[in-house]
Amino acid sequence: MKHFLKDTDCTAPEIARLFDLAARYKRTRGTHEKPLAGQSWAMIFSKSSTRTRVSFEVGIHELGGNPIFLNRNDIQIGRGESVEDTAKVLSRFVHGLIVRTYEQQEIERLAASGSIPVINALTDFLHPCQIYTDAFTMTERWAKGGDLFASLQGRKIAFLGDTACNMAYSWILGAALFGMKLSLSGPKEFAPGADIDAQLKQDGLPKNYHFTTDPAEAVKDADVVYTDVWVSMGKEEETKERIRVMSPYQVTAKLFALAKPDALFMHCLPAHPGEEVEQAVLDNPRSIIFDQAENRLHVQKAILATLAQSPRA
Ligand code: CP
Ligand code: NVA
Repeated sequence: MKHFLKDTDCTAPEIARLFDLAARYKRTRGTHEKPLAGQSWAMIFSKSSTRTRVSFEVGIHELGGNPIFLNRNDIQIGRGESVEDTAKVLSRFVHGLIVRTYEQQEIERLAASGSIPVINALTDFLHPCQIYTDAFTMTERWAKGGDLFASLQGRKIAFLGDTACNMAYSWILGAALFGMKLSLSGPKEFAPGADIDAQLKQDGLPKNYHFTTDPAEAVKDADVVYTDVWVSMGKEEETKERIRVMSPYQVTAKLFALAKPDALFMHCLPAHPGEEVEQAVLDNPRSIIFDQAENRLHVQKAILATLAQSPRA
């Protein structure tokens, strides 16, 4: 793996190795090796962040490296310096780049122009660090000491609400890679678009998901009920309309009860209780939202270490 720009940048065996490494880093936090010793990694963020920013900054530090946080508006890219020149300049200073931005194309261009690994820390299209972490978090519940990656095989996820957002799209790629079943349910105007089907095709993966406008149908027999905010960053102008059309897809306690009796509730956070999910579901003992948040640290450390050790052309 040279970059981590989309979920499909790793093969299944590579993901299995990442999960094993993340589990080891979690077990041995504070005492494990420091593969980023002597390195600096820059983080260019064009959008707000709590979990991603802090988990990457702490993770780089724990691996022996130095994180440099760059708000887009504080550096020259925010005043029009080209993405290509930015990548070339930063490649002379730092050992890797972590980017949160709007267009997926921007991180693809940064990766193509520089000579250092680039990690996608969320775009409008995908959020692969979150999906890998979520899958890892599921394995903690299901693997019971066995093969982490294999424990995902055949499990069903129901994703409700905005099924055309970065989280839904990353789950479409992720589920295909992890061998999971995926049912998405939301208003038809927010059904997954041709862009994600094209990405599946480009990655040689079959169209593996089912879309329905009936949330009860999606949730039936699910091992995980997953939701995300209805108004993603950058979509604030559409707030009123989104809330209006997505309200039938709120994860209520009643809807959650239609999933398997031991089903987990998951949310990438931040949550908006009373919109996409009821507070009672966030508080349910089978809600593992804070394990997901914590695991961002361990899984991203595994991604960082793997990229830092990958030979570069
Ligand atoms: N889930 C997630 O990416 O959170 P932040 O926006 O706080 O980084
Ligand atoms: N879909 C959300 C995810 C936040 C982590 C957004 O893009 O704002």
